Amino acid sequence: MSTDVLVIIGTGGMGLAVLRRSGAGRKVLLADFNETLLEHAVDTAVSEGYDVASQGVDVSSRNSVAALAATARELGRVTGVVHTAGLSPAQAPAEAIWKVDLYGVALVLEEFEKVIAPGGSGVVVSSMSAYMAGGNIPADALAELAAKPADDLLGLPFVTGIDHPGFAYSAAKRANQVRVQAASLRWGARGARVNSISPGVISTPMGQQELSSESGAQMRAMIEGSGTGRVGTPGDIANAAAFLLSADASFVTGVDLLVDGGVVAALDTGQRAKSAG
Ligand SMILES: NC(=O)c1ccc[n+]([C@@H]2O[C@H](COP(=O)([O-])OP(=O)(O)OC[C@H]3O[C@@H](n4cnc5c(N)ncnc54)[C@H](O)[C@@H]3O)[C@@H](O)[C@H]2O)c1
Repeated sequence: MSTDVLVIIGTGGMGLAVLRRSGAGRKVLLADFNETLLEHAVDTAVSEGYDVASQGVDVSSRNSVAALAATARELGRVTGVVHTAGLSPAQAPAEAIWKVDLYGVALVLEEFEKVIAPGGSGVVVSSMSAYMAGGNIPADALAELAAKPADDLLGLPFVTGIDHPGFAYSAAKRANQVRVQAASLRWGARGARVNSISPGVISTPMGQQELSSESGAQMRAMIEGSGTGRVGTPGDIANAAAFLLSADASFVTGVDLLVDGGVVAALDTGQRAKSAG
């Protein structure tokens, strides 16, 4: 019997949580751009008893993503792909954010579509900021972000016209959602599903960096005003990914699952949680 392979792209806070929640009993292929982080993730995974392989990847390079997909296929049946790699506004300028968060996600969708097994499931990590960017992206630009081939994305006028890291991030994350919708038809033709998850503020290295940045105060206010009133844990996202990877979600494809502790609900309805006064 062929081995089931789970590919986890990005071995930061969420990637490691996905490993722990969904990695047991299958071969896990861990991939990241940062060799030191990747080595640490592999050491942790091996010491905790997971069966892992690893490969360096730069998600903004098609050759690199294609090589990762080929390795995954050689290891066995690629039944799960969870894409958690990303750059945030506190970490990088707009150009790098477009490359990693827009183009990188598009490449992962295109290259893993070629190797995903029937019955397999893909999960792309977007962001709740996509819900805030939505109205600021013209409909024709959004249609292009959804449908243009990956290699055309970075040249789109909408993309070249935005150099604000925060807006590039939220627009790229909105694009991830509509690209996942579009990809679900192609993945479906292979008998596979693909969905996105939009996390709220999650306490990972990235989330902590954002909370310490100049937008930190605004983020804390949003958390305090939300229905849960708390920051998310990497496990909150890993639980949602486990559902989308599982047979329980066999009728769920092409959707975004908002896992934000209620921030967007509070913003959309103009309400604040009682605890926030
Ligand atoms: N943490 C949050 O509050 C939060 C909120 C909403 C969305 N997100 C999204 O969740 C995802 C996971 O974030 P996290 O919180 O685990 O962050 P993290 O910083 O802990 O992990 C992200 C990983 O992506 C890797 N990476 C960056 N550029 C890469 C590239 N070019 N190729 C391959 N790997 C690369 C980094 O090395 C890092 O290990 C990201 O897409 C992020 O935008 C995070």
